[in-house]
Amino acid sequence: MNNNELVAMAAAMLDKAYVPYSKFPVGAAILCEDGSVYSGCNIENAAYGPTICAERAALCRAICEGNHKIAKVAVVGETEDYCYPCGVCRQTLYEFNPNMKIICGRRDGNIVEHYLHELLPNAFGPLTLNDK
Ligand code: THU
Repeated sequence: MNNNELVAMAAAMLDKAYVPYSKFPVGAAILCEDGSVYSGCNIENAAYGPTICAERAALCRAICEGNHKIAKVAVVGETEDYCYPCGVCRQTLYEFNPNMKIICGRRDGNIVEHYLHELLPNAFGPLTLNDK
């Protein structure tokens, strides 16, 4: 699956987003090394804090299926500019592969691609805990 196809799968989730408070839908799609794809949308909550971002919703689906080998994550909003993952999502994804690619889309169809470690430099990760 190429980047544009993965972004299209993320965009297909925008309609599913549960966003009564922010009215800011986000869609995500995760491509695993074996070619499996897991998509997700943001799921908000009246208590605000329990809101789950699209990337973490997709990640939960992958992990619950036993698929930890994440290669790429596509993220899209309905915004003119690129929709980048929030800090919590960057940290959550870092756990599984600092070298995964993050592909951010914007409304005009353009995409940008980064390594996750570029978006979260000097991160605290699993290896930090082993370095005692
Ligand atoms: N949101 C995501 O789904 N992913 C991000 O990485 C950034 C923020 C959602 C959370 C909330 O439902 C809405 O965007 C506005 O913050």
